[in-house]
Amino acid sequence: MAFRRWNALRFSILRYYGAHLVQPGRSSTQFGFGKLARADRYKLLVALVVPRPIALVTTLGPKGIVNAAPFSFFNVLGDDPPIVIVSVDLTSTGSIKDTARNIAANKEFVCHIVDEPIAEQMHGCAVEAPDDVSEVDLVGFTTAPSMQIKPPRIVEAPVAMECVLHSNVDMGTRNLFIGRILQLHVRDGIIEPQTLRRHDGAFKPIGRLYANRYCKLGEEIAFDSNQYVEAMKRMGKA
Ligand SMILES: Cc1cc2nc3c(=O)[nH]c(=O)nc-3n(C[C@H](O)[C@H](O)[C@H](O)COP(=O)(O)O)c2cc1C
Repeated sequence: MAFRRWNALRFSILRYYGAHLVQPGRSSTQFGFGKLARADRYKLLVALVVPRPIALVTTLGPKGIVNAAPFSFFNVLGDDPPIVIVSVDLTSTGSIKDTARNIAANKEFVCHIVDEPIAEQMHGCAVEAPDDVSEVDLVGFTTAPSMQIKPPRIVEAPVAMECVLHSNVDMGTRNLFIGRILQLHVRDGIIEPQTLRRHDGAFKPIGRLYANRYCKLGEEIAFDSNQYVEAMKRMGKA
């Protein structure tokens, strides 16, 4: 009886504050997100959800100046329709980032995948530049016209996806811009035209860790799942 009461108390403490939950052979630290400060949630997520792909996004500003900024709360989330999502926060002073303003106004943007040769320039594009300064010029990128939308693409990027806005989910501090990909540019030599597979070693994308820390693509590993199919057969389930 006393043990049951203690256990109930232990679990309500765990749920409420987050604590060390000891299971046989392993322990873990619990974080109830409802009780965490936003900055701490961010810190934990960017420390642990790694590596994140990076979209270097170009948009057109109100005066026609090309804006470029990197976003690692980004991913491709569908192929039918082909969908990307970019999550744009407010600035540290609570104003709307240029990328968010431009996508909301023009409904068009280009997502570039960042590789090692352009990583440092991409990082430079995160500076808060005034409206009349293009990050593209600041870091020395070259642009070329897009094929289906007005914002241009960055020539130095190995991959560029021309997108139109599918929808915008307003999350309060963040806007989740869901984009439909209209056109994909891939630098020659990366994709094998017959198979549409990537040539080994021809593409060196980088991933975001946190702050100014990035990672390179490591050694590739492959697995064979036959042993599990065999196990299902032995169980009479396949
Ligand atoms: C690698 C990297 C990833 C970033 N990811 C995001 C992100 O996912 N969302 C966001 O709001 N800001 C992100 N930032 C910060 C923006 O790039 C930065 O606020 C930038 O100045 C926004 O520019 P803009 O006002 O021209 O849109 C990231 C910065 C870096 C360097």
